[in-house]
Amino acid sequence: MTEVNKDPAAAVRGAVLASDFTQSLHYDRRLYREDIAGSIAHAAMLGRQGIIPEADAEKIVEGLRQIEQEISEGSFGWKPELEDIHMNVESRLHEIIGETAGRLHTARSRNDQVATDTRLWVKSAADEAIAAVRILQRALLGQAEQHTGTVVPGYTHLQRGQPVVFAHHLLAYFEMFDRDAGRFLAAKRAADVMTLGSGAMAGSPYPLDRQSVAEELGFGAISSNSMDAVSDRDFILYYLFAASVTMAHLSRLAEEFVIWSSDEFGFIRLPDEYTSGSSIMPQKRNPDFAELMRGKTGRVYGHLLALLTTVKGLPLTYNRDLQEDKEGLFDAADTVMPVLSAAAGMVLGMNVEADRMRNAAEHSYVLATDIADYLVRKGVPFRQAYIAVAALAKKSIAAGKGFSELDMSDFRSASELFDDDVMSVTLDGAVAARDVPGGTAPTRVLDALQKAYGRLHASVAEG
Ligand code: ARG
Repeated sequence: MTEVNKDPAAAVRGAVLASDFTQSLHYDRRLYREDIAGSIAHAAMLGRQGIIPEADAEKIVEGLRQIEQEISEGSFGWKPELEDIHMNVESRLHEIIGETAGRLHTARSRNDQVATDTRLWVKSAADEAIAAVRILQRALLGQAEQHTGTVVPGYTHLQRGQPVVFAHHLLAYFEMFDRDAGRFLAAKRAADVMTLGSGAMAGSPYPLDRQSVAEELGFGAISSNSMDAVSDRDFILYYLFAASVTMAHLSRLAEEFVIWSSDEFGFIRLPDEYTSGSSIMPQKRNPDFAELMRGKTGRVYGHLLALLTTVKGLPLTYNRDLQEDKEGLFDAADTVMPVLSAAAGMVLGMNVEADRMRNAAEHSYVLATDIADYLVRKGVPFRQAYIAVAALAKKSIAAGKGFSELDMSDFRSASELFDDDVMSVTLDGAVAARDVPGGTAPTRVLDALQKAYGRLHASVAEG
C-alpha cells in the first residue's frame, strides 16, 4: 500500500509486468514443431535463393534441428521473459550457432511466421479430428448392424411417437458426424495456405521463392495478399465452428445415453468404465462421461464466440489482439478430441436392451398413425381418420389399455370401417411399411447401412 501511495503509476506498472501480461509462451510453445519446420523451410529457401550464404542456411537448419530435439526431450530452457515460442527458439539459436542466427529472420516477421505456424497446427488438428470422427462413425455402424430389427419407439418432444428400428436412430448420428467430418475438412482447406513472404504485412523486398517453401511445408497454396495473410484468422474460426457443431452433436448423443441408461428407460447399459459410483448412494452407476460430453460443449462454443469477437473490430493488419486466437483453439481441440473417443467407447461398449425397447413400443400408442393409415386405405380422408383414432386413443388411455387390448367394439365405435384385420397393424408391420429412401423399413436401413459403410471406406481411403 505504501508503494502505491508513493508512486501509484510505478506500482501499477510493476503489477502488470509481474503478471506477464503480454507473454504467450505458456501456450504457444505448443507450436514448437510447426515453428521450427517453418523456420527450416524459410532458412533453406533463403540459402537457395542466395539471400543468405548457403553455409549459413545449413548452420541455421542444423541449429534448429538441435533445438527441436531439446524441446522434445524436455531439456530446453524456456524463458517466459522472451514472450513467445518464436523468440525463445531464435534466442536459443543464437546461443548454439552465434551471430549467424541473426540471418534467420531475414525477409520474415513474426506476423507471417505465427500465421504459418498456426495454419500448420490447424491442418494436423483437423486431420486428427476427422480420424476420430471416423472411428466414432465406425462404432455407430457396428452397433447399427446388430439392431436393424430392434424396434424402439421413435420420439418427438420426448413422447413416444412412431416405431423405428434402433439402427435407424444410430444412423441418424452417423449422418451428423459425417457432416462434422466435412466441416473439419473445410477447416483444413481454409488453413492450407502458406503466409510466409508476407513479412510484417506489405510483402518482402527479397527475391523469395514462396512456392518452394509452401511445397516443403506441405501447403496447397500461398497467400494472395500480404495484408490479409497476416491478419486472417478465418481458418481458426472454421476449426472452432467445426468443433462447436461436433460438440453439439456429441452433446445430443450424450443426452440420449443419459436418458437411455436411466432406470426409467433402461434401453442401454453403459460400459462400466464410462460410469462412476456415488460417494453416498451405493446403488448408483452415474453416466458421468456422458454428462461431461454434454457439459464441455459450452466451453467450445465460448472459444468460437471469443475469437469472432476478437477479430470483429480489428483494422488491417496485424494487431496484438490476434495473439488471443491460440488458447481457445488449443482448448477446443483438447476438449473435442477426448470427447470423440469417449463417445466411440460408449457406443462400442454399450449393452442394448432390445426387449426393453420393444416393450416400451408395445406399451404405448406408437401405432396410432398406422391405425389412421389403415382407415385411409379404406378410403377415409387422413384428417377424418386422424380424428377417429384420436378418439380411440383417448378412450384407451382413459381405460388404461393399449391398442392391442381393445376389442372390435371399441374400434367400431370409433369407425364403422374397422375390421378384424386391424389387428394385423403391428410394430414390425409399421416399421416395414416405411419403405421409402431414408425411411426406417429394415430393408431400407440395411441399404443405408451398406451405403454408410461404403461412404466411410471411401472417405478413409481418400484420407
Ligand atoms: N505471439 C504473437 C502472436 O501470437 C506473435 C506475433 C507477434 N507480432 C507482433 N507484431 N508483436 O500473435
